[in-house]
Amino acid sequence: MTGYKGPERVLSGIQTSGEMHLGNYLGAIKKFVALQHERQCLYFLADMHAITVWQDPERLRAQTFHIVATYLACGIDPKVATVFHQSGVHAHAELAWIFNCIARLGWLDRMTQFKDKAGKDKERASVGLYTYPVLQAADILVYKATHVPVGEDQKQHLELSRDIAGKFNHDYDKPDFFPLPEPLIQGPGARIMSLRDGSKKMSKSDASENASIFLRDDADAIARKIKKATTDPEVLPSEAKGLEGRPEAANLVGIYAALSGKTSDEVLAEFGGKGFGVFKPALAELVVEKIGPIGEELRRLEADPGHLQSVLREGARRAAAIADETVREVKEIVGFVG
Ligand code: AMP
Ligand code: TRP
Repeated sequence: MTGYKGPERVLSGIQTSGEMHLGNYLGAIKKFVALQHERQCLYFLADMHAITVWQDPERLRAQTFHIVATYLACGIDPKVATVFHQSGVHAHAELAWIFNCIARLGWLDRMTQFKDKAGKDKERASVGLYTYPVLQAADILVYKATHVPVGEDQKQHLELSRDIAGKFNHDYDKPDFFPLPEPLIQGPGARIMSLRDGSKKMSKSDASENASIFLRDDADAIARKIKKATTDPEVLPSEAKGLEGRPEAANLVGIYAALSGKTSDEVLAEFGGKGFGVFKPALAELVVEKIGPIGEELRRLEADPGHLQSVLREGARRAAAIADETVREVKEIVGFVG
């Protein structure tokens, strides 16, 4: 337990390791945009997490610009929310080390993302990939963030952050020092699946380029990918219950619902009884309407990396003012000589 009484603060980050897709938008960035006017928000680019697997340096830099451009193109206002790159605020790494000494091996051994990413040959995975969730806890707690909007796949990492915060507070007898950060996961779009396989989440690392809709895709690419999306031969049911056991259909209806702001039941009230020959073109039109303008703005912003870099530097300066103070307090609590 924690008796944390500080201000509510929202924080989230995205790894700078690939093209942003519809799952990132619906599961994460759309929520970031909505939250920025409600609470104090910090949104960062997890470039230090990205290098837990090999990244070509030039590509890493380009992808960092791609993601900050995506944030801005989707509607994050860097004057309202603090937007920065993780490596630009050295307090993340400092706190991560101290948390490495708080987290237990047994806790990390349970992390499913490590098992998925390391694959069979885990002896060859980087140590960074293993302690990845510890750095994530530091990202959150260095700002004493109370709420973390993420997709469902991050739930386990958030639990670990809570465990680390709780153990730190307990071990140093400071019950109200760190908050126990809460994930904000609910809502449509928390888990968007691949267009080719309804049992796999949409991801930037999918081998089939038709599996994911990228925010950069133009109208033709979007329409083509939706047309080719795997489905079943049945017509759509008239209620969401009828989607059970039909993961591909459920996913397409879920995307329509998330983008239109309706529930799946409302979408099916309109499309129930109709086949994919009718539903897919309607979905393609909606995706183009919502995502098309983001892609255009994204391309415009990416053409000016100097501007993007100045946004990040200013954000990092603001973020460091909070983070450095936390690290100063933590060093004192731990017993380091100031
Ligand atoms: P990643 O691309 O894995 O760095 O994820 C960045 C953010 O997007 C995290 O909050 C993820 O939970 C979210 N996210 C990634 N893929 C999906 C997906 N297929 N559906 C919903 N959210 C996702
Ligand atoms: N692990 C997250 C992902 O892959 C990215 C991330 C790093 C993050 N640090 C974070 C998300 C802190 C939220 C809070 O999506």
